[in-house]
Amino acid sequence: MKRVAGLAAIGMLAALGSAALAQQRAYSPGPHNIELPADWQQRFIRYTTVDRPDRKIIRNMYVNPEAFAALTAGQPLPYGTLAIMADQRARVDAQGNVLLDGNGRLIPEPAFIAIAAQQKERGWGEGYGPELRNGEWEYAVFNPQTGAWVDRPLNACFTCHLQARAQQDYSFTTWDYANRAR
Ligand code: HEC
Repeated sequence: MKRVAGLAAIGMLAALGSAALAQQRAYSPGPHNIELPADWQQRFIRYTTVDRPDRKIIRNMYVNPEAFAALTAGQPLPYGTLAIMADQRARVDAQGNVLLDGNGRLIPEPAFIAIAAQQKERGWGEGYGPELRNGEWEYAVFNPQTGAWVDRPLNACFTCHLQARAQQDYSFTTWDYANRAR
């Protein structure tokens, strides 16, 4: 009995091992690696918002709670970081000028109009050339209504984050949040 259980356990370990290998081999660069979790709006932490009057939008920056808890100043962002940038349109007057609230901030319209994401996982990034590769990060854009991937070119995501933020783990506000004086 014991030996059968032992053999079964060995079989299971072997199966798990090859599944893990298959998964590793299955990595191919691209936005399909990032999934928008169904419950992200409930679960993720909105750590900052950025007003962009130039574009008449408000950008809400979210990160998954596991990564949020592990953010450390001066350190690369943790594996498993999923940063989500959800844009809202800013309210405008009849002339199309942005309106401000009592604190001088833009006033968001309720709906999200665009969702962009960047995620870092061990082993990702393999296959991108040096002009594009952002360490172990991938990028994706999602339809804010359906949560499905938006099929669009993403090279600009890589080049801009690479050129501006290679020394900050390719991150803008998540890095700044982790490194601000707290
Ligand atoms: C021209 C430069 C540029 C391009 C192109 C660009 N980004 Fe960014 N990204 C930024 C800046 C700057 C911020 C900080 C917010 C702001 O100031 O608007 C940012 C913030 C983000 C964030 C929030 C996390 C963080 O670290 O601030 C995500 C997620 C993101 N970008 C994903 C993308 C995706 C996906 C694309 C491509 C569809 C993309 N970015 C294209 C410059 C860029």
